[in-house]
Amino acid sequence: MKFGTGIWVVLVAGVCLSCSRQQEMKEIRSGEIWPDTEGNHINAHGGGVMYHEGTYYWYGEHKSDTTCNAMVGVMCYSSTNLTDWKNEGVVFSVADDDSSDIARGCILERPKVVYNSRNDKFVMWFHLELKGQGYAAARAGVAVGDSPVGPFHFLRSERVNAGCLPFDMSQEEVALFDTLDGSHFKEWWTRPWEQAVKEGLFLKRDLEDGQMARDMTLFVDDDGKAYHIYASEENLTLHIAELSNDYRWHTGRFVRVAAGGMNEAPALFKHDGTYWMIASGCTGWAPNEARLFSAKRIWGPWIQHPTPCVGPDAEITFKGQSTYILPVAGRRDAYIFMADSWRPEHPSDGRYIWLPIRFSPDGTPVIEWMPAWSLNYFDKLSVEKQ
Ligand code: DGJ
Repeated sequence: MKFGTGIWVVLVAGVCLSCSRQQEMKEIRSGEIWPDTEGNHINAHGGGVMYHEGTYYWYGEHKSDTTCNAMVGVMCYSSTNLTDWKNEGVVFSVADDDSSDIARGCILERPKVVYNSRNDKFVMWFHLELKGQGYAAARAGVAVGDSPVGPFHFLRSERVNAGCLPFDMSQEEVALFDTLDGSHFKEWWTRPWEQAVKEGLFLKRDLEDGQMARDMTLFVDDDGKAYHIYASEENLTLHIAELSNDYRWHTGRFVRVAAGGMNEAPALFKHDGTYWMIASGCTGWAPNEARLFSAKRIWGPWIQHPTPCVGPDAEITFKGQSTYILPVAGRRDAYIFMADSWRPEHPSDGRYIWLPIRFSPDGTPVIEWMPAWSLNYFDKLSVEKQ
């Protein structure tokens, strides 16, 4: 899709209040066509952004005009100002081999990339569904590259943490888990079934072969430890799982979050020592109300809060679904909520919702609808805080 840059690029004179310098900043306009530096609508859905050596890299699903299946792979765009994005091309390609896990026509969603300073590699994780199997496989895939702009080489895809129980299960919880018997629950959505889900009905079903891993994100903590956060157990329960030092494997240490809560699209960030997670409910491509959780430790306990969204369409996350929370480099208290406004009938036309996060006096994140804003917004916030 080609669009004149003039349609979108609106220059606003932003005043840098904290330093009294006049700066020109471009606007970020949520829900509209977002042309790259060549005038084509950015094609990086369900994505995430990695900051590396002065440049932001936006990775996301390439979407075709007529199908949500992966016909191309993972796209990357680079930027130094978060508004002008250069197309770096396909950094991870699907394979022209139907026997491959990543055969063209598979489902490859929500890619995220992190940099591993221990071995100077870039590691991509993504949600993978095998070609022709709908959403049954529920695997995590991993690929590695030497450069932020790829190419990324496929390592493997799998269900995760086979044979491992959440390390924080109490003796009582393990005792209840041991008594669960899947054959007692022919019917879903009954009260006893819901209780059994909370106690680990699907965790037990998948214990031997590995846990389901669908919608996902990655999070690297201040100590360099990386975590894979994914919708598991039939999209009913989120897991937070530790990755190995090279970020390529699961260590087997994981916890369940909001068991039976039906959350997906997790996005995680840390602010002033508190971990915050925004997720969505499970309504396919249709938007629903964002969910907010917080914890003092990555392993929880996680507490649920009301939606952080405020303004028109807040109850449907401004027609979007969370995908990532981007810390603005070099700035305190500056985070951008990234979401997708899916268009399954014309997937490549999917739109992006990017909104700044502000913090209420008790530290709770608030995301307010703004059709257009610039990064100067964060200068205003820090002046108000003084
Ligand atoms: C919602 C998920 O968040 C998306 O990534 C995608 O898997 C759709 N469901 C498919 O319906």
